[in-house]
Amino acid sequence: MTQHPQSSPSTDVVTIEYDRRVAWVTLNRPDKRNAMNPVLNARMHDVLTEQEDDVRCGVVVLTGAGEAFSAGMDLKEYFRETEAKGPMAVRRAQRDAYGWWSRLRWFEKPTIAMVNGWCFGGAFAPLFSCDLAIAAEEARFGVSEINWGIIPGGNVTKVLVELMSQREAMYYTLTGETFDGRKAAALKLVNEAVPLDQLRARVRALADVLLEKNPKTLKAAKDAIRRVTEMTVDAAQDYLVVRQESLNFLDTSGGRKEGIKQFIDDKSYRPGLGAYKRPD
Ligand code: COA
Repeated sequence: MTQHPQSSPSTDVVTIEYDRRVAWVTLNRPDKRNAMNPVLNARMHDVLTEQEDDVRCGVVVLTGAGEAFSAGMDLKEYFRETEAKGPMAVRRAQRDAYGWWSRLRWFEKPTIAMVNGWCFGGAFAPLFSCDLAIAAEEARFGVSEINWGIIPGGNVTKVLVELMSQREAMYYTLTGETFDGRKAAALKLVNEAVPLDQLRARVRALADVLLEKNPKTLKAAKDAIRRVTEMTVDAAQDYLVVRQESLNFLDTSGGRKEGIKQFIDDKSYRPGLGAYKRPD
């Protein structure tokens, strides 16, 4: 991976590399399999703040350094050492972790999880927060909490039932059995799985598709998917009318009108087959 001169130092627990409007955000504790400790969780808030209005970032890709995407919460630093400091320290640690996952879920720009290796327990939370997910076939997933005596918290249980069938969620939660990237795709936990040596290229190609689209529309569309999941049909219908009308106002480029014009008047593209051309 070519390091951009403006990338953060490699000693950072999270590194960022900018490349053609993709921000590759890498959880960087490879010797600890990128387990999420309080330092990493705090750092992710700054990273997301930076990416929000950085013009070099049109799409965020979240991945991990070395052999792991993330081995979940850091059992030593997030659990044991924090608990030793008392209940308020635990609440603060939870707030930082849950906070960045939530911010990622509603992030201003599209996000892709690139699952390159181990993905355990708490790592299912940022995985779910990303809009799309591509895994290496060789990646290994597991809801391992049962193996060390806790239930999948940090909303992992909720993530499982949102993305998997109840039978599958129950099976993997109670057995702690691991599964590979292909199985994760079959379970719909990720969009697809590709061989590890093709992973970055596939994610790059997917990011390039997103970069062609109207960014304001992408944000409205991804929020709509998550919001309507919790709504009745009538509430969703109403929400989508109002969301589109707010988008008409927020999209100062007049994207919708331009899209219609380029198809109906200019005949320069077909909306069924690709995006309208936006000004550079
Ligand atoms: N929390 C804290 N430390 C962790 C960790 C975690 N979740 N996952 C890995 N590490 C640490 C190990 O303690 C070890 O540290 P050390 O070198 O100081 O001894 C280092 O990372 C490497 O781990 P190791 O187990 O030797 O690597 P491996 O490649 O043989 O196995 C895993 C990788 C992911 C299978 C294994 O580390 C593991 O089971 N991790 C815990 C996964 C888990 O249950 N996560 C759920 C948390 S909610």
